[in-house]
Amino acid sequence: MAMTINQKSKRKIIPVASGKGGAGKSLITANLGLRLGAAGVRTVVVDMDLGGSNLHTYLGYRNKHKGIGNFLSDTKTRFKDIIVQTHVPALRFVPGDVLVTGLSSPTPATRKKLIQAIEAIDADVVLIDLGSGTTPLIIDMFLLSNSGLVVTTPEAPSVLNAYSLLKNVLFRRLQEEFASSKRVASYLKEIQKDKTPGSTPTLRDITDGIKKIDRKYGARATKAISQLKPYLILNMMIQGEDFRIAESLRDLVDRNLGIGLESLGAVFQDPACSMAVRALQPLTDFAPESPAAVQIERMAQKIAQSESFPEMPLDLEEYDSSYGLTSIEIAMDLETFRTSGDSHVAGDARDEEFLEVISTQKREIDQLKGTIRTLTAGADSPF
Ligand SMILES: Nc1ncnc2c1ncn2[C@@H]1O[C@H](COP(=O)(O)OP(=O)(O)OP(=O)(O)O)[C@@H](O)[C@H]1O
Ligand SMILES: [Mg+2]
Repeated sequence: MAMTINQKSKRKIIPVASGKGGAGKSLITANLGLRLGAAGVRTVVVDMDLGGSNLHTYLGYRNKHKGIGNFLSDTKTRFKDIIVQTHVPALRFVPGDVLVTGLSSPTPATRKKLIQAIEAIDADVVLIDLGSGTTPLIIDMFLLSNSGLVVTTPEAPSVLNAYSLLKNVLFRRLQEEFASSKRVASYLKEIQKDKTPGSTPTLRDITDGIKKIDRKYGARATKAISQLKPYLILNMMIQGEDFRIAESLRDLVDRNLGIGLESLGAVFQDPACSMAVRALQPLTDFAPESPAAVQIERMAQKIAQSESFPEMPLDLEEYDSSYGLTSIEIAMDLETFRTSGDSHVAGDARDEEFLEVISTQKREIDQLKGTIRTLTAGADSPF
């Protein structure tokens, strides 16, 4: 089994992808890395957005270091030569290909070289900032873990591209699983090529097709897919109601792809993000009390506190769903940031309605209690 890195070692490899560009991958990856580092978690952030490397900006650096471009173009450059120490002792950074470019579609051999280098990194957490889209590099990197992060905004094109990213991940996973069976491989290639509108097969259709080739393959396909546990981050939320689109995506992914998409958290649209970039400072240093910084830090805590990410880090008895937990967090944040005037997140009638729905449901009140307990328990943590 190739795809069980998170099970093999305590180290967590966490790729960050989004179907559509500009969803906030780099901002979130950089600041997750900074907060994990601040908590003493030995972390490495890798800029794997070849052709569009800009992770250094979100870390507050000008680009001047050798990076993956040098590693790939110069055989004398070893991977450990391009790992840069940041101002946070526990955080290191691997720059992309700003200095040496032209590598955005690496060959299978180059992809393998990159994967081996990443697997060899000595750290507790390795965060990989991927480019947007569904290139083989992105899909292969995403499959380095069973629990990559998918970032989307609430806008339909972004959500749909997140869906197609996951669909490509599923196909690739199956291709790997059945690499030794020519008949399954060519069957998968055939149905993936078919672009007829409405012809997209569901996982059920695919496993049925695979079963027809060999009966015992059906269960194997289902098992391979059920191991995938990607996490969703809904970024640039404007109102509480936006979260419903995340729940719709979860339902669609479950129904059509058979993949259980969990929620890691939500991040409000926050003007502090662009202010920080202009000040050439990381968001969580520049405006640590801003909504986006607080929300990213909360996600970092979830990753840090989880012994075996992707398992939910918090007391499972308190939360029957990661989406329920995120709803509670959003409700709390809407209250906090609306009253403090820190945010321009609209406090309109729909948010009132959203808060009402939340507060009338007993199950969720129970969850809220759990969240508060967790937050207070973390009061003496390094955050
Ligand atoms: N929560 C947010 N609120 C406001 N602005 C944000 C937020 N998240 C990201 N941004 C801004 O959106 C822009 C895109 O963010 P970012 O570069 O992180 O996206 P990306 O997914 O990495 O894009 P690409 O696909 O081009 O690599 C940046 O200007 C960033 O500052
Ligand atoms: Mg980016």
